[in-house]
Parts: sequence; C-alpha cells; structure tokens
Amino acid sequence: MKLLVVALTLGACAPDVPSTPSYQADVQPILAASCIRCHGVPAIGGAPESLRLDTYADLAGIGAASFRGSIVARVSDEARPMPPRFPLGDWEIDVLQRWVDTGGGRGDPRPDNHPPTATLVTRDAGVLTIDVEDADGDVVGGALLVDGVVVGPVASGRTTVTAPAGNILRVQLDDGAAVIELELP
Ligand code: HEC
Repeated sequence: MKLLVVALTLGACAPDVPSTPSYQADVQPILAASCIRCHGVPAIGGAPESLRLDTYADLAGIGAASFRGSIVARVSDEARPMPPRFPLGDWEIDVLQRWVDTGGGRGDPRPDNHPPTATLVTRDAGVLTIDVEDADGDVVGGALLVDGVVVGPVASGRTTVTAPAGNILRVQLDDGAAVIELELP
C-alpha cells in the first residue's frame, strides 16, 4: 500500500512519455519552447543555418528537424548541451529520444488541427512581406516559391523575402501535421 502511494505521487510529477511520440503533438512543442529562437529563420546567435528546427520537412533546402538524430545527441551532451545555457529536463530528453527510437516520423497529428494560412502583405521592388499564421499556435516553417522555384524560407509571423520577378507566388507551409501548398493572390 505504501509503495502504491509513493508510485502515485511520483507519477503525478510528469506525464508519461508517449510510447510513440507524435511530431506535432509531442516533439514540436519542445523544439518551439527551447530551440527555435536560435534555430529558426533567421538562425541567430551563431546557430548554423544548416539546421532548421521550425519545420519537419526540408522546405527551403536548409535542413529539417526530421533528419537530425544529432538533436538527441546534443540535448543529452553534458559537455555541449543544447540549448546552451538551460538544458532540457529529463522528460523532454526522453520524449525526443523515444521519438527518434520509434522512427522519427510525423506520427498522428492532433485530431483537431487547423492548417496554417499565409497572407502577402506588401510587394515592393522585389521585396515581399508575408505573414504566416496558425489558429492552433503551432510553429510553422515554410518556403516561398516563385513560378515553382524555391526562393527562400518563410516562418511563423512576418518574414520578408527578396524574390525575383515572377507571376505565380506560392508558399509551402509545415505546421508539424503536413506540408500544404497555397497560392498567394
Ligand atoms: C541560444 C541559442 C540556441 C538555442 C536556444 C539552441 N541552440 Fe542549438 N546551437 C546553437 C549554436 C550557437 C550552435 C553552434 C555551436 C555548437 O554546435 O555548439 C548550435 C548547434 C546545434 C546543433 C549542431 C548542428 C550542426 O549542424 O552541427 C544541434 C543538433 C543543435 N544545436 C540542436 C539544438 C536543439 C535540439 C535545441 C533545443 C532543444 C537547441 N539546439 C537550442 C544555439 C542554440
């Protein structure tokens, strides 16, 4: 009886690590809280541009969360932890580890997920300002395509992209559930 009480008390501290973590529901919130301020678009603080942690798919050719077993290596590297100053808790590390161990796929998105939206705010002399929004508050990584060619990354919130002249503007957006493609009017 005493053991059971202890087990219940400990169990109350943190939720169980999901047996097969979902990228959108379980992994992306950890990356959003602890990684994307440096490993987003633009990468800041000396973080390499080649690692983009705001999208599962490699949308603008600069890397993607899905391909990086190194994520797990660095979050549990005591000599060079990621994030550099405030290491993740054991629960977050276990979720990332379990996700990679179970294949690192997208898994099931949240059942009530809404796809993201994009708006072309201004288009001036080849400089485009694009707002990306998500009703669920998911981090959204994306890319701008002009006449079918990727010209640069876009991200949650407002991004400015320098783009060559062209007729058809499209964005690819990844909210963790899937990549969608939208035409910008
Ligand atoms: C305060 C900014 C900052 C935060 C927050 C941060 N990183 Fe980093 N990250 C860096 C910098 C700077 C480097 C390059 C220097 C190095 O490797 O230590 C880096 C390098 C890395 C690398 C190696 C990339 C390569 O191609 O060599 C990985 C993997 C990584 N970070 C993962 C993460 C993960 C996962 C998180 C969140 C759990 C995170 N980082 C949070 C700044 C940050």
